[in-house]
Amino acid sequence: MTRTVYVDGEYLPYANAGVHAEDRGFQFGDGVYEVCEVRDRAIIDERRHVDRLARSLEELDMSMPMSRGALGNVMRETRRRNRVEDGLVYLQVTRGAAPRDFLFPSDNTRQTVVCLARHIAKDKGDDTSAKGIGVLTVPEARWSRVDIKTVMLLASCMAKEKARAADAKEAWFVAPDGHVTEGASSNAWIVTMDGMLVTRPPDGKILNGITRTVALEVAAAHDLELDERPFTVEEAKAAREAFVTSASAGVMPVTAIDGSAVANGEPGAIATSIRAAYHTHAEHS
Ligand code: PDD
Repeated sequence: MTRTVYVDGEYLPYANAGVHAEDRGFQFGDGVYEVCEVRDRAIIDERRHVDRLARSLEELDMSMPMSRGALGNVMRETRRRNRVEDGLVYLQVTRGAAPRDFLFPSDNTRQTVVCLARHIAKDKGDDTSAKGIGVLTVPEARWSRVDIKTVMLLASCMAKEKARAADAKEAWFVAPDGHVTEGASSNAWIVTMDGMLVTRPPDGKILNGITRTVALEVAAAHDLELDERPFTVEEAKAAREAFVTSASAGVMPVTAIDGSAVANGEPGAIATSIRAAYHTHAEHS
């Protein structure tokens, strides 16, 4: 099947789709994006993702390229045309194409909107979560506005490459004060030995994950004790459980940190139960 990508109002075969060579997303990382999970043909938490996209755009003095409803329609139509039943939808908005200049182009520059959908078998995530993943801690190397979901992801790519070289699936950024900020593409959580769920609050040092927000709702519904605060690498290594959350990985147990096992090296019970309950709390559209 020919895959279809949405670019600026058109649904095109991949081979015919492209953006301008002077697109500011390409030259400056001047754009924002969202990744939504697709499950059983539904887009998960679309409303929250579109709300966050609107916030990211506002923080960068960009306008919405179309209404929230229309963005949702683009995501759903891209999914439908690609017959993706399980997987992801990726939506990106850049400030558009203009002759290269650090200064923003005029307000009437047309923003570039790209949407694509990709199939990922449901079993893949479940198989990975049954084993858990390893993470590698790396020094925080990103800019100071990580609360905005920009496409400027080089520090995260480099961190993930480093993790891969160490046989880990994710990198955890560590601030100079020794506290974990978040994963390169996920939020970080631990469960302490006395059963307390700990994750960093949205204090400007993390992206406020949608999966994180819904996982907090699951935790509250399960009467889990929560302490929203930063934690150190040492605390994480001594924890009973660790896990990460993201639209692409869901709730994913972490079974090793820097090569040393978390507790007995098996996925934790709390992470596993939040993962199992996740989709009953999420919105499906
Ligand atoms: N990443 N923190 C960072 C730095 C992220 O890039 C992501 C998501 C998250 C989790 O956010 P959410 O739960 O809304 O997916 C946290 C996406 C999946 C990606 O870049 O592919």
